[in-house]
Amino acid sequence: MTFEEVLNQALALLQRQGRVSYRALKRQFSLDDAYLEDLKLEIIEVHQVAVDQDGTMLVWTGGRTPASVPATPPASSQDREPLSYTPPHLAEKILTSRSVLEGERKQVTVLFCDLVNNTALAERLGPEKMHTLLNRFFALALDDVHRYEGTINQFLGDGFMALFGAPIAHEDHARRAVLAALTLQRTLQDRHAELGEPYSVTCMFRMGLNTGLVVVGSIGNNLRMDYSAVGDTTNLAARLQQLAEPGMILVSDTTRRLVDGAVRLEALAPTQVKGKTALVTPYKVIGTRPQRSPLASRGEERALSEFVGRERELATLAALLEQVESGQGQVVGMVAEAGGGKSRLLYEFRQGLAGTRVTYLEGRCLSYGQAMPYHPILDLLRTNCGITETDGPVAIADKVRVALEEVGLDVEATAPYLLQLFGVPEETERLAVLTPDAIKTRTFETLRQMSLHGSQQRPLIVAIEDLHWCDKTSEDYLAWLVESVAGAAIMLLVTYRPGYRPPWLDKSYATQIALRHLAPQESVTVVRSAQQHHALPAHLEQMIIARAEGNPFFLEELTRAVLDHAEVGTAVMVPETIQGVLMARIDRLPEAPKRLVQTAAVLGREFSPPLLEALWDGAQPLAPLLLDLTRQEFLFARASAEGSVYVFKHALTQEVAYESLLMPRRQALHAAAGQALETLYAPRLEDAYDRLAYHYARTDNVARTHAAHRPGGVTDCHQRLCGP
Ligand SMILES: Nc1ncnc2c1ncn2[C@@H]1O[C@H](COP(=O)(O)OP(=O)(O)O)[C@@H](O)[C@H]1O
Ligand SMILES: [Mg+2]
Repeated sequence: MTFEEVLNQALALLQRQGRVSYRALKRQFSLDDAYLEDLKLEIIEVHQVAVDQDGTMLVWTGGRTPASVPATPPASSQDREPLSYTPPHLAEKILTSRSVLEGERKQVTVLFCDLVNNTALAERLGPEKMHTLLNRFFALALDDVHRYEGTINQFLGDGFMALFGAPIAHEDHARRAVLAALTLQRTLQDRHAELGEPYSVTCMFRMGLNTGLVVVGSIGNNLRMDYSAVGDTTNLAARLQQLAEPGMILVSDTTRRLVDGAVRLEALAPTQVKGKTALVTPYKVIGTRPQRSPLASRGEERALSEFVGRERELATLAALLEQVESGQGQVVGMVAEAGGGKSRLLYEFRQGLAGTRVTYLEGRCLSYGQAMPYHPILDLLRTNCGITETDGPVAIADKVRVALEEVGLDVEATAPYLLQLFGVPEETERLAVLTPDAIKTRTFETLRQMSLHGSQQRPLIVAIEDLHWCDKTSEDYLAWLVESVAGAAIMLLVTYRPGYRPPWLDKSYATQIALRHLAPQESVTVVRSAQQHHALPAHLEQMIIARAEGNPFFLEELTRAVLDHAEVGTAVMVPETIQGVLMARIDRLPEAPKRLVQTAAVLGREFSPPLLEALWDGAQPLAPLLLDLTRQEFLFARASAEGSVYVFKHALTQEVAYESLLMPRRQALHAAAGQALETLYAPRLEDAYDRLAYHYARTDNVARTHAAHRPGGVTDCHQRLCGP
């Protein structure tokens, strides 16, 4: 190992463990005294990230991770750069959406994974074999982390740290992280033949996850991300990893809350964790939960809120279903933003079908599913054929055959096309001679015939959730299916968010149902049912209703947050769940409009274009960007006494965009806003007093003093702010 490699590994070790004794360093890296002295000098004096304690150990003091120092290379030196190991589509996404200049605050889930018996193994295998083994492990891990769009941003000596939700926000970062951990756990078991076996050793891995805020700093062209944890987000994840027994995945309580409905967890005994005063309850991840209902992503302890409104929508669905039953197929889209109530409406509609003569099949698109062809279609097939998660290839093949026979299709001719979708190997050999296009065409045809034949026996409802995340192949198939539903007893019922446009909207048999916001009275009902046996004071209820603006998910989450905080008695921020959804939406914007959203957020829910112009430091002209954001329903324009102003469609979007700004940039923008107001309102400054006060109160002291020394009204305003 070169000195640099030893240094990096030592830094990583130190940061993760908080303290490392000199004896451990000497042993781990086979150092002599002179080498150790050099290493100490480099860490203590040059990097200044640790101090000596009692001449026996190093204690980590650097808050920032040594991410700007090249991490331990997984293989050759060219592999050091994240750009070289990040899949191109992900790299492009990151590079086109990075906020390079000043960084952002992000909610993330951190995953630590390491090889348990590293030291013993290294001793047995020697450095070269150990190196090969670790590289194999890293390669497997990279695949699984990237599948869920996580980023490995640090390779540690015997493991790695991955982030989900940064640099690009994901509304479901916690779920992605836990699923990645579970997938990796299985991969490492399945592929043990490539890891320890060649050396007759057993490799055991353990993982720890936690969720919290990080500040993402600059992202280089090589994708190296400079970030620092806020509070102990990374620290607790690392500690949980250390607590985990070999093979185990442990998550924190914060992570548990976000993944409860999707994975099975077991609480372990609360334990003392270094750096924490209160006891910490680790949760062991057992496995995924089967998808029980469209609302399965919620925790079990949460009952559904009392269902309100939607009479008209249900009536429309019932009328359309009547047409379907008479052989006039329909395509129905239900559109609403995240949390608007699409899945719930689908659920209620389905409940209403109980006892009627229809077949109901449901599939879902996943936020990380764009790279998984046929994902929602496979869901449909599984329900249709009664295939469960535990079925092996033989059972799958049997069930597919039975299902094909039931609808009267030629089993021998069609089964291979469906089985190749399930990756059932022995049946797919026959397809090897066909081109991929031919296979696709015949697969589509088999799927369609299955639906058409099935619908002749009983009317068929094919429901696909979250079409905005659909993979290309599935979308192609659905568009193609739509061409033949008009004369069949088939209802294709899909849900999606605004901004997605299904390819079949112009069909005469296509209907789009837009879910409106809940009315205040309906909102009250949702808030009350979310309170369960607690009772919130009326003013808090009103606050929740005003902030949630009729979005049922926001109503529920805000109520929960208020209840949680009522117990600890602190101010209520935007709950993590809502933040995740909204920040993910902001992050999907290209750089310029995203920057506009963040800049405008400083001005409040409502802002005038001239004022924004004064703050705007982007290269692009504002007008087209504003138009674009209006089109995407982030903003809307409103006429006011002062000319037209723009309004954030959701106050919460503005809050979340504002929260994502780092303090220095926030302050700079507030100062700029104050100054712009002074100029714009020079003749009638009193009209702007409130806003001046608002902005100057949020700048640092220098700016306030600066304002106070200005002549005239602002001194006045400053006095109102701070007293004479
Ligand atoms: N009409 C409604 N009445 C009561 N609760 C609702 C209603 N619509 C949705 N909810 C609740 O709000 C939450 C979010 O709804 P969901 O259907 O999952 O939103 P979407 O699928 O549009 O993202 C769920 O917990 C759901 O039970
Ligand atoms: Mg939904």
